[in-house]
Amino acid sequence: MKKIAILGSGSGSNMQAIADAIAAGQLAAEIVYVGCDIPGAYIFERAKQIGVEPVLLDCQGYKQKFPKESQAELAAHLKSLGVDLICLAGFMRLVGAPLLEVFPDRILNIHPSLLPAYPGLHAWEQAVDDGAEESGCTVHYVDAGMDTGEIIAQSRVPVLEGDTAKSLHERIQVQERLLYPQVVADVLAKL
Ligand code: GAR
Repeated sequence: MKKIAILGSGSGSNMQAIADAIAAGQLAAEIVYVGCDIPGAYIFERAKQIGVEPVLLDCQGYKQKFPKESQAELAAHLKSLGVDLICLAGFMRLVGAPLLEVFPDRILNIHPSLLPAYPGLHAWEQAVDDGAEESGCTVHYVDAGMDTGEIIAQSRVPVLEGDTAKSLHERIQVQERLLYPQVVADVLAKL
């Protein structure tokens, strides 16, 4: 059975989608680790509900940085757990060399835009502000850049007349929850 680690910062709906796909027998894997950098984020509740004791990541006191020492510690821990794949699921800190070197081509991210358009924060808002006609979501391998790694798959979502940042993000998230588990299954099948 392949082992997945999840890193998140928010509500954890993408983690939930992966957990649901596992429970439905669509994904032969188990989630063995859930880490989050934001105390009180809803992903903590979701992790407990799926039977994983979530961990508050050691980057408290750092605004947006993920300190190298904490990454190295996490990389060693995930290695010791036998983790095959790390899935960033709404994780808002940049992952760097200490994790990438231990898990080369084994870290995925889901981003709420059609990359390379609108990398970074609040991608859905960037799309609406820019007057884009469509947006969507992208699953990609993680490299040291911000949302720059090799693209694996995308789903397109039209921007509708009257869309707000919130309404567009909600429709993108529906697609994210379909796309991410499928891509995780495909990537794991090739490992
Ligand atoms: C998702 O829409 C994800 O694509 C986005 O944060 C949201 C997290 O939702 N990620 C990024 O913007 C990363 N740059 P979730 O916590 O419910 O999965």
